[in-house]
Amino acid sequence: MIPYSFPNLQIIVLAAGQGTRMRSAKPKVLHQILGKSMLEHVLCSLEGLNARGLSIVLGHGAEVVQSVVSEKHYVTWVTQEEQLGTGHAVQQCSHVCESADHVLIVCGDTPLLRTGTLAALVRAHLDAASDISFLSAIQPVPQGYGRVCRSEAGDIRQIVEERDATDAQRMIQEVSSGIFCVRKSVLFDCLKAVDNGNDQGEYYLPGIVPVALQRGHRVDAVLMDDVDEMLGVNDRTQLRQATKILQNRIVEDWEKAGVSIEQPETVRIDVSVHLGMDTVIRAGSQLLGHTHIGDGCDIGPYAVIDRAWVDDGAKVLAFSHVQEAHVSMSSEVGPYARLRPQAHLDEGVKIGNFVEVKKSVIGQNSKVNHLSYIGDAEVGKNCNIGAGTITCNYDGANKHKTVVGDNVFVGSDTKLIAPVEVGSGATIGAGSIITRNVAEGGLTLTVRPEQRYVKDWKRATKN
Ligand code: UD1
Ligand code: CA
Repeated sequence: MIPYSFPNLQIIVLAAGQGTRMRSAKPKVLHQILGKSMLEHVLCSLEGLNARGLSIVLGHGAEVVQSVVSEKHYVTWVTQEEQLGTGHAVQQCSHVCESADHVLIVCGDTPLLRTGTLAALVRAHLDAASDISFLSAIQPVPQGYGRVCRSEAGDIRQIVEERDATDAQRMIQEVSSGIFCVRKSVLFDCLKAVDNGNDQGEYYLPGIVPVALQRGHRVDAVLMDDVDEMLGVNDRTQLRQATKILQNRIVEDWEKAGVSIEQPETVRIDVSVHLGMDTVIRAGSQLLGHTHIGDGCDIGPYAVIDRAWVDDGAKVLAFSHVQEAHVSMSSEVGPYARLRPQAHLDEGVKIGNFVEVKKSVIGQNSKVNHLSYIGDAEVGKNCNIGAGTITCNYDGANKHKTVVGDNVFVGSDTKLIAPVEVGSGATIGAGSIITRNVAEGGLTLTVRPEQRYVKDWKRATKN
């Protein structure tokens, strides 16, 4: 695909509003959808246009928004001290538009927009030599959007906000997406003539439409194919709706790439997740952040994998939790296992039920199959760590390391009191409490409590 390029286009993203309907301490555009803020979703789709520049208008929570976005995107910031409306917000941007011929205005609360749809708007605007073009859609339920009012002949007259609309206008199903591409000279000239005589007492950007028409400029609506794309998120219900639509898109994209997803309505897969061919994601699983799952993996049901790397052919079975960990090829985790940050499993490792591994390397083909805690440890190859083994890594102040060689057999219910090392080939007897280094080979065990037999003892019986 040839990348888009619009060198004469300046992009403005409107994000100064408080987002009152969200009822949140956080600026609206920072609310997340599948691992990314709404604003970042918008910025990612805009970056594909390769425009001359991108500016964001901020007001409420400006510092927080800037700190989140600055690391990842190259943008210029514009401040709108008082939020007097979308038209007023655009007016604050005249200085950043100086060297552009056209301006694309996008709201920061429309996270489902695709680059191709925005490019189609700009393309149509330029090809038609139009003065104002905006994306419109036929919404069977037009509630909440500005309605596109046309003459009997079908010519655009104005865009009326719902709260200013008459009953008859409210019946109109053609709505404005709020996304405009405007010839720069027309934009800033017409904005000067827009007043705030409406229900909210605000200077509305759509107010440029009747002004421009009166002055003989050309105004076009570009109809969107996929009405879902224009969803504006003003409250938490719309946030949930947007999440659902995006999740469906992600599921369908991975299905096309050869991934099976069982009961997809129960699964969460973030935008930045990678899945390999022939992998199966089972019901209720959550794949979060920059998680990588290789080819032929079996994940879930009800696994949570957060910013982790899982190599080809690995299994993360039911109810397992894997966070910032690395699972190498053909390893198996769970059911009911927990890998915490910096757990690293080499190839062919097995971590079984109710085992927790933290900041530890488990060598090739080693097994920790039941009820153990392995923390701050290095375990070699082909080891068998018995049920209930605990690395006692913490003395209340500091963490200490446990190092286990290759081919070690640790009997069940052993405590390895760190710092401690176990030589290769060693066998440790069940129930041992290891406080000193263990030699290579042989059998090491600590003295066990004496076993007694009371022959004539009678078990209590119920009264
Ligand atoms: C807006 C449009 C409406 C369109 C809908 C599509 C206006 C007046 N209305 O309505 O026609 O159908 O989007 O989703 O344009 N903002 C500022 N400064 C302000 C006011 C708003 O930056 O002074 C920003 C907001 O942060 C938001 C965007 O502009 O990102 C849109 O504002 P919002 O209040 O959400 O407008 P809607 O009522 O959704
Ligand atoms: Ca909105």
